[in-house]
Amino acid sequence: MVLKVLVLNGCINKNGKTQNLLNLFLKEVDKNVYSIDIIETQKMQINHCIGCHSCEKDGMCIYDDLNEVYEKIEESDIIVLASPVYFASFTTPLKTLVDRLQVMYARKFVLNKQIKEKKGVLIFTSGRDNQKMLDCILLQSRYVFLSVGAKFLDYICQLNTDKIMNIEEKVIQKSKEIANNL
Ligand SMILES: Cc1cc2nc3c(=O)[nH]c(=O)nc-3n(C[C@H](O)[C@H](O)[C@H](O)COP(=O)(O)O)c2cc1C
Repeated sequence: MVLKVLVLNGCINKNGKTQNLLNLFLKEVDKNVYSIDIIETQKMQINHCIGCHSCEKDGMCIYDDLNEVYEKIEESDIIVLASPVYFASFTTPLKTLVDRLQVMYARKFVLNKQIKEKKGVLIFTSGRDNQKMLDCILLQSRYVFLSVGAKFLDYICQLNTDKIMNIEEKVIQKSKEIANNL
């Protein structure tokens, strides 16, 4: 049976450190067990949530641009969130998608719809080596994973990229360990 890894990718720079870290992780994922699908949010024009609460009535968004993404999320076994830290959060394209996951939250917690259990992994980099930055992005990610029915497995991060140019060996090792033990 092939299990599904779905990446919600907030990387802006194709050759940036976060994309590099994501690539290292995905390289280690066993392709005999997992298929990999990547949602490239920076290439999409995602309508932002307007807070109309319509999804709380029927589990659907008034916009249909993410219907396929919702389906992919529902069917996935592993959700990977990947983003550099921008102002203690995700990049704008990923954050826009994350707000639209209110649909998933509404299905699960308002309409009590059964959602397939999955696992969540967070991959990020940040310019500073700051515990508060880590806390902010971890807290946000926990709510994302909760909303899509994913148990938070672990995170892989390269902090201090303002000063550290290459991904550190300890980070590469952690990334391999997590990829090999999904
Ligand atoms: C708009 C913007 C906002 C940022 N905000 C933060 C921040 O709040 N905290 C932080 O530690 N680094 C911040 N950074 C630095 C990036 O997180 C860091 O350079 C990251 O490693 C870039 O990843 P990339 O190479 O994949 O683009 C910011 C960078 C940009 C461009």
